[in-house]
Amino acid sequence: MREVLLLILKIFFAATKAICRYVVPKSKKSVKGEVVLITGSAEGIGRELAFIYASEGATVVCVDINEELNEQTLGLISDAGYGKAYTYKCDVSDYQQVSMVCQRIEKEVGNVTILINNVGVLITNHFCELTTEEIEKMVKVNLMSYFWTVKAILPSMLKNNYGHIVSIASVATIVSIPYLIPYSASKYAIQGFMEGLQNELLLNKNCKIKTTLIHPCITNTSLMRNANMIYSSMVPVFKPKDVAEGIVNAQRRDIVEAIIPSSYYLPFRGLARLFPAQAVLLVFNYLQTALAPR
Ligand SMILES: NC(=O)c1ccc[n+]([C@@H]2O[C@H](COP(=O)([O-])OP(=O)(O)OC[C@H]3O[C@@H](n4cnc5c(N)ncnc54)[C@H](O)[C@@H]3O)[C@@H](O)[C@H]2O)c1
Ligand SMILES: *[C@@H]1O[C@H](CO)[C@@H](O)[C@H](O)[C@H]1NC(C)=O
Ligand SMILES: *[C@@H]1O[C@H](CO)[C@@H](O)[C@H](O)[C@H]1NC(C)=O
Repeated sequence: MREVLLLILKIFFAATKAICRYVVPKSKKSVKGEVVLITGSAEGIGRELAFIYASEGATVVCVDINEELNEQTLGLISDAGYGKAYTYKCDVSDYQQVSMVCQRIEKEVGNVTILINNVGVLITNHFCELTTEEIEKMVKVNLMSYFWTVKAILPSMLKNNYGHIVSIASVATIVSIPYLIPYSASKYAIQGFMEGLQNELLLNKNCKIKTTLIHPCITNTSLMRNANMIYSSMVPVFKPKDVAEGIVNAQRRDIVEAIIPSSYYLPFRGLARLFPAQAVLLVFNYLQTALAPR
């Protein structure tokens, strides 16, 4: 009985601490000298992330399947005169490639201290109209690649008891919406992955490895532009640069989970779960935003 009371007290203490952190976040830690690996760095949010980390004095490792655009990311960084940056071509959905590239990175650049899983693909359609290849691609790129990079990089972070793992999910984890089913499912899975990873790391009380899970709102990148989005003035579309800025801030403040542009939206996820599916659809229809099938 005494143990249970003590447990309840400890839970309340932890919750109070979390609420205080939510209102007054930690100050931003420096990323100077850190080695930041970003997947999907050739364009969109990933490219902006690479640029911001380089501007803050970090060594940036840009990993993408698109060599040509990834070189452009590197060019932007060197033209601005910012520190060291590297590019690696890799299909991150393939563990063999991830493992080999990560070994090369350790030799050629050093130990990765900040990993940003940012890669993502979106193909919108009625579930039954999606091909098995399209479904598999979304799961492999959006989810499996997040496993593979962590599998390749976490061991050295654990040895050094130092590092930060950031994963980009989506507001598509608040509700799963029509025509985006495999995409949403892979993003929900990232949520499960990151929660479990954090809890596993926390088993070691002295663990200095941080995790951050990010849910960006709708951002004007080619991922979105190619998705047949019916835009509504009710739903804001953010600039990749601003979203990347929010992601870097959340990482530097050790925020565990954030919706970008505002983490104050986070409680809405819990709220959406309290209402029946019909209510969520009513809001969805009111906002008149839909990812129309091809
Ligand atoms: N744009 C949005 O509205 C939005 C909203 C919520 C979440 N997100 C998420 O943010 C992240 C970044 O998205 P974005 O909008 O900048 O996308 P983007 O399409 O602009 O960029 C994605 C990058 O990933 C690369 N890539 C794709 N498949 C790859 C593979 N197999 N191996 C290596 N690289 C690969 C592409 O070449 C590209 O450079 C994704 O995880 C996405 O799901 C985006
Ligand atoms: C990377 O980390 C490993 C494990 O702690 C260590 O042996 C190695 O020297 C580190 N490499 C560099 C370049 O710091
Ligand atoms: C998105 O960006 C493109 C080109 O970068 C621009 O032409 C377009 O107006 C933007 N759309 C929105 C909704 O901001």
